[in-house]
Amino acid sequence: MNDSYLSFVNGGPGKAVAKQLGLPRPAVLRRTADLTDVDSPLVPGRVVVLTDGSDAARVDADALVEHLLAWGADVRRDAGPGGARKLGAVVLVATGLERSADLTEPALAVGGTLRELAPSARVLVLSRAAGPEDSPGLAAARAGVDGFVRSLAKELRAGATGNGIALAGGASAGDPSPAGAARFLLSARSAFVDGQILTAGPGGQAPADWARPLTGLVVAVTGAARGIGAEIARVAARDGAHVVGVDVPAAGEALAATVNAAGGIALQLDVTRDDAAERILAAAHARYGRLDVVVHNAGILRDKLLANMTEDRFADLLAVNIAAPVLMNETFAEPGALGDAAHAPRIISLASTSGIAGNRGQTNYGYAKSGIIGMTRALAPLMAASGGTANAVAPGFIETDMTAKIPAVPRQASRRMSSLQQGGLPVDVAEAIAFLASPQAGGINGEVLRVCGQLLVGR
Ligand code: NAI
Repeated sequence: MNDSYLSFVNGGPGKAVAKQLGLPRPAVLRRTADLTDVDSPLVPGRVVVLTDGSDAARVDADALVEHLLAWGADVRRDAGPGGARKLGAVVLVATGLERSADLTEPALAVGGTLRELAPSARVLVLSRAAGPEDSPGLAAARAGVDGFVRSLAKELRAGATGNGIALAGGASAGDPSPAGAARFLLSARSAFVDGQILTAGPGGQAPADWARPLTGLVVAVTGAARGIGAEIARVAARDGAHVVGVDVPAAGEALAATVNAAGGIALQLDVTRDDAAERILAAAHARYGRLDVVVHNAGILRDKLLANMTEDRFADLLAVNIAAPVLMNETFAEPGALGDAAHAPRIISLASTSGIAGNRGQTNYGYAKSGIIGMTRALAPLMAASGGTANAVAPGFIETDMTAKIPAVPRQASRRMSSLQQGGLPVDVAEAIAFLASPQAGGINGEVLRVCGQLLVGR
């Protein structure tokens, strides 16, 4: 679970050797410190905000800049000389694009800033999502931003990331969810999110305290004993939530350690039980009187080439990884089951890049994780009816016990196969989940957010 190559190429002699041999040199990423002032400073370095030159983009940029200033960012409205201080972030507000040609000038303006980026800098592009009512020309201008951002992200170095926010449903850049998404993508919380476009609509609300946005919420996490689940519990508690940690009885000791550290409660439960959702709700209500957020994280691997696959390996995996969340959601999506008038319900499920791009030896896993994406998209409108959301997070290669079991050579290869040339950490996935659980993400629904360092496979 330790990437010793990353430490090697970031140390004195290793750095020189890697440079000489032209080996990949993954950067040490800026992540949140384990403090309550996790976002201080939000962006170390200047933040340059550019526009596509349209009036619409200027209005959006003004609204976003107001938030950035309130968050303490050192904002500049042009890319002129900024002295010795490197650029912490470049934000392009391109919400006024009408024709494809409109991107040329602002794209080159962004290009002119890239040599000044600090390590772990951020490039963020805000645009409008293409919709079915757009003319072909307008749709081309808007949809093209997707490929621009994904290609640009692949050109960035030294831990810098490039992501986009596509405004939908008439949302403007200053609304809670686009602004909240911008804050997340600019911050150290999104260290391993790269080359992604997040669609954000109206809805959601700014939290009372940006450092603890989950204050007052009760979050249930399945598979919380170890790995990504344990980190989701820790980050949710750090952000102010009460945590209900769920795992199988065999993992009881590790589960107790996780929830004790998070100050929450443990529920020993196999999520494949028919009454799993009712038992999670009952435990949360008995201790905290409510449940707001469910994170379907429990998962298993039963890898085999399909030619060698056995019925129990296929069926066991489907039971845990997809049938259980689907059945539990029949209860959790019932109006009134989660949240209340003040706190909108949230369901967040763990997908995987294997469910997007496919992976050899993982026909069962790929089926289940693609199924999670289908389930999430179908759940989104049902959740919206009660003001809630359903989203998925698709991790790429994350350093956990699960991936430590992969043989050494493919494990090394998987680590380097992303734009950031390294595996992510469980905390990276947990940060994305905490963001989607937060009040400011209320306008983000039915999305699949990849936390994969821009893995070179899949979309
Ligand atoms: P892990 O194997 O370290 O932890 C999974 C946890 O789920 C364990 O504590 C286990 O006891 C629990 N669990 C398994 N079956 C259960 C059941 N029937 N009821 C209750 N709990 C159960 O796995 P890891 O790596 O932390 O993965 C967590 C999630 O993230 C999984 O859904 C996995 O598919 C997904 N994921 C992980 C990736 C990675 O690179 N580690 C990549 C993509 C997705």
